[in-house]
Amino acid sequence: MKLLKFTLPCFILSLVLILMFAGPTWAQDGAALFKSKCVACHGADGAGKAAMKGTNLLSPEAKKLSDAELEDAILKGGKTKKATHVFEKRGITADQAKTLVAHIRDLQKK
Ligand code: HEC
Repeated sequence: MKLLKFTLPCFILSLVLILMFAGPTWAQDGAALFKSKCVACHGADGAGKAAMKGTNLLSPEAKKLSDAELEDAILKGGKTKKATHVFEKRGITADQAKTLVAHIRDLQKK
């Protein structure tokens, strides 16, 4: 089967390429989103602005929150239901919220 000899390596090569590029992009997505949508209030390192209460994402309280609670805070404004923090209405999808939470966890580790 000549065709199979050709298609199989092509298939494997594209799989390798997809894995090489899709993996890191997925991880960078949260960082890039955070940079464009969150840094203004939460700072590049996630420590927030002293003048804005509750913006420190590295606090012991924030570290204690579950992933689901962080996602809720991002998408629906969390416990305080702050209208300006309902990112669900401002173009952030549930999947993106997950990558954002992953990025926040990364920042909390540093
Ligand atoms: C306009 C300023 C502003 C922007 C932009 C902003 N936040 Fe916030 N965020 C706040 C404030 C203020 C709080 C404190 C909680 C409250 O008052 O509702 C908060 C709270 C949070 C919390 C909950 C922290 C806790 O300890 O309960 C998370 C998580 C969070 N923000 C993530 C994000 C992410 C992710 C983005 C980007 C998509 C973002 N925020 C963009 C101002 C902002």
